[in-house]
Amino acid sequence: MKIGVLTGGGDCPGLNPAIRGITLRAEDFSDEVVGILDGWKGLLEKETMPISLSDVDEIMRMGGTILGTSRTNPYKKEGGAEICKKNMAELGLDALIAIGGEDTLGVAAKLHKDFGLPVVGVPKTMDNDLSCTDYTFGFDTSVTCAIDALERLRDTGRSHRRVMVLEVMGRHAGWVALFTAIGGGADWVLIPEIEPDLDKMCEHLIKVKKRKGYAMVVVSEGIKLSHKKKEEVDEFGHMILQKRGVGQHIAEEIEKMTKIETRVAVIGHIQRGGPPTLFDRILGVRVGVFAVDLVHSKRFGKMAALSGNNIIEADLFDATGRLKLVDKSWYDMALTLFK
Ligand code: F6P
Repeated sequence: MKIGVLTGGGDCPGLNPAIRGITLRAEDFSDEVVGILDGWKGLLEKETMPISLSDVDEIMRMGGTILGTSRTNPYKKEGGAEICKKNMAELGLDALIAIGGEDTLGVAAKLHKDFGLPVVGVPKTMDNDLSCTDYTFGFDTSVTCAIDALERLRDTGRSHRRVMVLEVMGRHAGWVALFTAIGGGADWVLIPEIEPDLDKMCEHLIKVKKRKGYAMVVVSEGIKLSHKKKEEVDEFGHMILQKRGVGQHIAEEIEKMTKIETRVAVIGHIQRGGPPTLFDRILGVRVGVFAVDLVHSKRFGKMAALSGNNIIEADLFDATGRLKLVDKSWYDMALTLFK
């Protein structure tokens, strides 16, 4: 078979291990693997590169994606979906493996439904907010990076007796913030799923400052703020959150309400780069291998998913219909740890 592979949406560590898993498993079937460059953009423009065994020899440790990525949405371009269908045929692709999050896999699901295109998904997102899979690769690496940042901030916060605010990514879901706060032993966390209660938080921070001399707060970039500023959106209609300054706003509020000197750090895209952790490497190759098996068993419109410690098949529509958000029991668990 001739199998196309693309990576779409925000990059994250684990994409290259997934490409490696796909390429090595495809070799077992003597398949030809073709990389589509820059996500759906590459399919619209027929920009490709061959992927051979030597291309994936050394990519396990590499963050990002050797194929490039973009947030291009073919359904937002005039006749874009039809062009994808035509180009798949012209490229002679028997199947396409789309590696992405809710947006990229949402397009894959639609192309399968609208035209019966032979598409299979591989889930990725550092936000960990994709349904039908327990974890996505990228998440573990980014939280590991965010915890490292939190620990560095703790050193300076302790020395200066300040409140330190760390803003992390997480557009709709607070998984990154929550796990960073729990894993890094923070004193409070604000996530998009829970309305921020600044009075309660500040009261707690004053108490913590009295006991420890400093306090640590983790804020997800996606928390809802009441200001009415017009915000820029991407092709999938999502706000470009890095320009919002949520962490800065929260730090100013904390300083005003507690009278404790407060500083903020925004790690932004740093948490999305770097070598994948062991967890993300193993998950990446496993879902990559499984996706090729889905192709050979003609399970199109499906994706590889993690369930417990098994890789299983999930439906692309079920996975992209609604996001996997942090539920109240997880948040309550974090609150238990704030003393
Ligand atoms: O991929 C998801 C994500 O990491 C979000 O958490 C974040 O808001 C967004 O990507 C940033 O996207 P971009 O790289 O396009 O600015």
